[in-house]
Amino acid sequence: MSFAHRYTGLIDRYRDFLPIRDDTRIISLGEGNTPLIRLHNIPTSLNKTVDIYVKYEGLNPTGSFKDRGMTMAITKSLETGNQAVICASTGNTSASAAAYAARAKMIAFVLIPDGKIAQGKLAQAMMHGAIIMQIQGNFDDGMRLVKEVADHAPVEIVNSINPFRLQGQKTAAFEIIEALGRAPDYHCLPLGNAGNISAYWMGYSQFYQEGIVNKRPKMCAYQASGSAPFLRGHPIDNPETIATAIRIGNPQSWDKAWNAQRESQGWFDEFTDAEILATQKLLAEQEGIFCEPASAISVAGALRDIKSGKIPEGSLITCTLTGHGLKDPDTAIQQSTGPVLKVKAELSAVKTAILENIS
Ligand code: F0G
Repeated sequence: MSFAHRYTGLIDRYRDFLPIRDDTRIISLGEGNTPLIRLHNIPTSLNKTVDIYVKYEGLNPTGSFKDRGMTMAITKSLETGNQAVICASTGNTSASAAAYAARAKMIAFVLIPDGKIAQGKLAQAMMHGAIIMQIQGNFDDGMRLVKEVADHAPVEIVNSINPFRLQGQKTAAFEIIEALGRAPDYHCLPLGNAGNISAYWMGYSQFYQEGIVNKRPKMCAYQASGSAPFLRGHPIDNPETIATAIRIGNPQSWDKAWNAQRESQGWFDEFTDAEILATQKLLAEQEGIFCEPASAISVAGALRDIKSGKIPEGSLITCTLTGHGLKDPDTAIQQSTGPVLKVKAELSAVKTAILENIS
């Protein structure tokens, strides 16, 4: 009997639920199958009986949830015979597109806002050999240009307006249902270009319609106050937030996101940059989980809504942590107050430092 089992990525895993042919050449880096971690210390300090799980998407191959959609988008693009793909990005999509294009021997063109993407993401796009265009504009400008140029040049768009992206991303909802044996009561996540909320709703709805589960979660999505078009009710011109991943004023999946909110009877809300960073730190310090600032907003939302009673006691809540904290080391180091001691390279000095810091 063979006990060998190699996980080969989400297309292989969820083939029956994806628009994929048996003979399609799959471009995969083993994405998906990310841990669903139960929070322990934070709920204890809340004094409420709730179960909070985080879907740690930072453990995908390029460190964000984008890989779920990108394995599908690049696989399908290659199948169609394309040689080049293009995206606008706040960083993670460009990192993912660059990696999967490299694997498929395709060219990736990426448009990123000059100076407004986290260093780790820029490093990834560079290392994977993407052709990087730093534009003097924001993500929304990049998105407009990408849509225009795709009509004039032989490149396929791999932003989440590419329908295969959402198909891949919906598998995160499948994994959550399988891990819990049911759907959560509430699903909390960050809201930027609005592809991910649309994909999760698609995934939860598909398993619901197939009769695999008998309910769907309320979708609760959160924006940074300086970049909150869904809270303002219209696109905004100059989005700003330290959570650069969600620094977006004109979300592409506008209608789909509203539909997910309405159908699920969930809600949208907003957080200041200070609140976002505080929650990022809370997760790192209290649970040992390092996510990027944008990701932490999902947990910020869950905690606020639990405290206020909007999410009732007894609820099962899942939060998507969309990207790894290592993506943005600068923001992490800038906000860290923890002691970095300067100590002489001597036994006595190290011992003193230990004794002074043990309570
Ligand atoms: N969290 C992270 C870490 C992201 O990178 C993004 C989007 C989101 C949340 C929001 O997800 O757009 O589906 O609502 N990043 C895109 C990018 C825009 O270019 O990497 P969304």
